[in-house]
Amino acid sequence: MENSNINIQDVMKLTDVGMNAVNDHLRKQLNSEVILINQIAEYIISNGGKRLRPVLMLLISKALDYKGDQGINLAAVIELIHTATLLHDDVVDESEMRRGEKTSHEIWGNSASVLVGDFLYSKSFQMMVKADNMQVMSILSDATNKISEGEVQQLLNVGNVNISEDAYFQIIANKTAKLFEAACQLAAVIADENAASQKQLGDFGMLLGTAFQIADDVLDYTADDAALGKNLGDDFSEGKLTLPLIYLLKHGNDGEKSAIINAIKNPDKTDFMVIRNLVTDSNAIEYTMKQAQIKAEEAKNKLSGLPTSEAKEALMFLCDYAWKRGQ
Ligand code: IPE
Ligand code: IPE
Ligand code: MG
Ligand code: MG
Repeated sequence: MENSNINIQDVMKLTDVGMNAVNDHLRKQLNSEVILINQIAEYIISNGGKRLRPVLMLLISKALDYKGDQGINLAAVIELIHTATLLHDDVVDESEMRRGEKTSHEIWGNSASVLVGDFLYSKSFQMMVKADNMQVMSILSDATNKISEGEVQQLLNVGNVNISEDAYFQIIANKTAKLFEAACQLAAVIADENAASQKQLGDFGMLLGTAFQIADDVLDYTADDAALGKNLGDDFSEGKLTLPLIYLLKHGNDGEKSAIINAIKNPDKTDFMVIRNLVTDSNAIEYTMKQAQIKAEEAKNKLSGLPTSEAKEALMFLCDYAWKRGQ
């Protein structure tokens, strides 16, 4: 099935009724008597974000013609978990910009960000319990546990110029793709799909999430930071070796390799633009994008069991969007 001429706005339009319900539900759930919680939660939620994970859930629900009432709450749970990880991740990564605005810790400090991140996490658990479904809880608790594992694996590899591609793929599967997998699998679970279909859609999420994170790692070198809503070069300045650098360290010439190793050892003394140019002048970006494309194509194949529909077309579109966005 080839994609027709839909764009990201069409996809968002297709889910806007559900998405408004998700946003309303989120706001209601986050209401707390503790003012700081309201402030930070409102700040990060109202600064937007693509809401990609709930959109995927809503589209799969639509494609499966699910008419029940579990979808909105669980889509909100997924977005809350995502938001909690961002609050924590920005502290760990010392990132200054998120969603086009200052990160929460830049405004309220690290302690407040970590603690409100915990509030969002635990709120998401209170909300998921309401689904009263052991499989739902199992999927979500496994996913949150893997996300933490991925972030710790990544931390252990900071500054590791010998990190393998396999280790990189393992990290991104855990820290990012696992939540996409959970979102997509959950949509199948609540629609009472059989085990094979649940797995197929979970795999779809894992592959799409992988393509999405690979692209995010490319954008850290190639994007325009205003459009990205985050600062460029964050990965590099944190000593995070992502696929473009891993590729160049393996396949670059001696000059490129020693420049990167030196830069990773002395990030404060390095001009990021020099490393950025080294990466963008090589074929590391092309190689990395190709890996994202391969995952996106594999993701499309996982949709073969869905009947033809507008929602399915939108899901196919999102596979391309995941790796082509911002390029
Ligand atoms: C950011 O995710 C973290 C990554 C997995 C790269 P998104 O790019 O989906 O963040 P928002 O929600 O749209 O801001
Ligand atoms: C995203 O990691 C994964 C999580 C937030 C768990 P990144 O650190 O690569 O994402 P950005 O670049 O900060 O959005
Ligand atoms: Mg980060
Ligand atoms: Mg990143």
